[in-house]
Amino acid sequence: MHVATFLLLLLLDLSVANGADEFTYNGFAGAGELVLHGAASVTPDGLLRLTGGSGETADVKGHAFYPAPLGFHNGSDGGGVRSFTSTFVFGIMSSFTDLAGHGIAFTVSSTRDFSGAAAAEYLGLFNRTTNGDRASRILAVELDTIYTPEFRDIDDNHVGVDVNGLESVAASTAGYYTPGGSFKNLSLTSRRAMQMWVEYDAGDARLDVTLHQLTKPKPTRPLLSVKLTNLSAAFSDQMYVGFSSSTGSHETSHYLLGWSFSLSGMAQQLDYTKLPSLPPVTATAASSKHMAVKIWLPVSLSLTVVATIVMFLLFRRQRRAIYVELVEDWEVEFGPHRFAYKDLHKATKGFHDDMVLGVGGFGKVYKGVMPGSGMDVAIKKVCHDSKQGMREFIAEIVSLGRLRHRNIVQLLGYCRRKGELLLVYDYMTNGSLDKYLYSKGKPVLNWAHRIHIIKGAASGLLYLHEEWEQVVIHRDIKASNVLLDSNMNGRLGDFGVARLYDHGAEPSTTTIVGTMGYLDPELTRTGQANTSSDVFAFGAFVLEVVCGRRPVQPRAAAGGERLVLVDWVLRAWRSGEITGAVDARLGGGYAADEAETLLKLALLCTHRLPAARPGMRRVVQWLDGGGGGGDVLDLLSPGHMDVAAPAFLCHDDADDDFVALSFPSASTATSPTTRFTN
Ligand SMILES: *[C@@H]1O[C@H](CO)[C@@H](O)[C@H](O)[C@H]1NC(C)=O
Ligand SMILES: *[C@@H]1O[C@H](CO)[C@@H](O)[C@H](O)[C@H]1NC(C)=O
Ligand SMILES: *[C@@H]1O[C@H](CO)[C@@H](O)[C@H](O)[C@H]1NC(C)=O
Ligand SMILES: *[C@@H]1O[C@H](CO)[C@@H](O)[C@H](O)[C@H]1NC(C)=O
Repeated sequence: MHVATFLLLLLLDLSVANGADEFTYNGFAGAGELVLHGAASVTPDGLLRLTGGSGETADVKGHAFYPAPLGFHNGSDGGGVRSFTSTFVFGIMSSFTDLAGHGIAFTVSSTRDFSGAAAAEYLGLFNRTTNGDRASRILAVELDTIYTPEFRDIDDNHVGVDVNGLESVAASTAGYYTPGGSFKNLSLTSRRAMQMWVEYDAGDARLDVTLHQLTKPKPTRPLLSVKLTNLSAAFSDQMYVGFSSSTGSHETSHYLLGWSFSLSGMAQQLDYTKLPSLPPVTATAASSKHMAVKIWLPVSLSLTVVATIVMFLLFRRQRRAIYVELVEDWEVEFGPHRFAYKDLHKATKGFHDDMVLGVGGFGKVYKGVMPGSGMDVAIKKVCHDSKQGMREFIAEIVSLGRLRHRNIVQLLGYCRRKGELLLVYDYMTNGSLDKYLYSKGKPVLNWAHRIHIIKGAASGLLYLHEEWEQVVIHRDIKASNVLLDSNMNGRLGDFGVARLYDHGAEPSTTTIVGTMGYLDPELTRTGQANTSSDVFAFGAFVLEVVCGRRPVQPRAAAGGERLVLVDWVLRAWRSGEITGAVDARLGGGYAADEAETLLKLALLCTHRLPAARPGMRRVVQWLDGGGGGGDVLDLLSPGHMDVAAPAFLCHDDADDDFVALSFPSASTATSPTTRFTN
């Protein structure tokens, strides 16, 4: 675009139409070239009102199309449909928030003459005969606020992709996905402006549709992602783009605030500051006679005052209700470790989605900034329903708060609400290790960092098992629970399922928790979590860090076969090249002997027989290169992994608190419920 043109457009503050296949409307004032039909009009404020302004109330249609047809086909030889992107901001206003209809459809069509189409559920696009007819040549993305079972609608608040008919190829309840991957509903009839992105990628023949409230950034995961392999059959060489809208028996205004479209690259971003606002919600009766106003004004004024006071009181009550906690008498002694919910609420901006650090099987983790101190914390929200055992559980949590080690994420305290437990931890600047191992965006973690993190985790686990006043079983060691502080030290975090018992005591059987791939097979048999089951998970964790792969990879990711990392590394070892399992992304940037020792050590930790696994003290010694660990590991061969533990590894003096396992008979074994995360 020429600078001069740009300035001119700025001056005029008009729509931008720069080139045949790309245009932007930040508001529709002066967008005279759009072809409007039916009830559609542009308001003085610059809103494009598709329906709602005509005075007619029922069965209204409104259309607005870009005047020129666009060349959607790639090349004259009938090559596929070209990629295109579009984004628009819309608002649906009805006098009822729960009743509006029927909807708006972003439309790409071979015609812009819809005089024969029906209103209401036909959205002004089809009629009984044209619906479902291949000759229609229409692609539409519908924002549908009425449930029409005839077209297999999913609900009365959905987004659907339609090709030549109103029975959607794909549909979803209106909403969006948070960065953490959870789905949030949006109500199309909430009278709030929302933005939609419609993007067709010719390479993948994929149409992505994304929705969010106005001014919110575009969610990375689209609401709908549909393969449209035969789209070119539905497209003529020249197609019109625009919008169609219709109402049924409810008077509803369907507005567009802005729109941009492009057949060459990304559609221009809308300039939110230039968009017109939706009209305020007014009582439709307000247009009545002056007389009525004279009588009603004082009455409604006083009603308003009363209502305001009532609302204020209700609001205050509700405000307090938001902060209600669950406190019982027995908690008095834990007072100092208890956080006020109000503070945690403030710290996380009301547990706002923007503050979510991660989502796990047990709950969401939020970042928080404590009011007052300004201290950064991580807050884990865990669902809990059982009253039973809560006292013991909290007692344990508070005990865990006394753990102090440079490789442990400090647990600061807790807060309890009905059905909800909040655990407050120190905030770790660099987040969890799994992000570094698997996120595309992060640089590859180098060998020295990996070794340093593994050593840190081992040292933290040794502290839990042997060096603290009680034995702490972490029960959920894995890469996503190893957090990295500002110096990239690995620290064990998330003690949400940890168990304590006294040194020398027998651990009790409990519900089995843990994560698939890190679960000691012995644990599923005995139900007894002990230090050796943590060692198993630690072994799986070390393999994960060295190989840069998850302990169990689903079929798709591993090229057709479910890949169990332990078996895979064992295979590499048997074939004589154990270092072949090292993360290829390191590009050979690692010490082969170190890698070999680490992999063997990790395999030994994941030995089927708990008695064959080393204790953490031993592991730490080996990692530090002391205790002749290398030599012992050198003696190890793949065969040792199948059978009973080699003699030279059992009954090691260094493992004095190695828990002697007495396997209960099958009848005494509990049948624990297994809870997997991920
Ligand atoms: C048109 O087709 C060519 C080759 O098939 C492809 O490289 C190009 O990206 C397509 N252009 C668009 C706009 O889809
Ligand atoms: C349906 O729409 C088509 C195309 O617009 C039109 O020719 C036809 O007359 C319409 N049929 C009815 C029943 O309205
Ligand atoms: C979201 O919408 C679905 C389908 O209409 C409904 O079942 C669910 O209760 C809604 N959830 C929320 C939180 O509004
Ligand atoms: C693609 O569309 C054409 C023309 O409408 C039709 O003849 C053909 O059967 C369609 N192919 C598939 C796979 O749906």
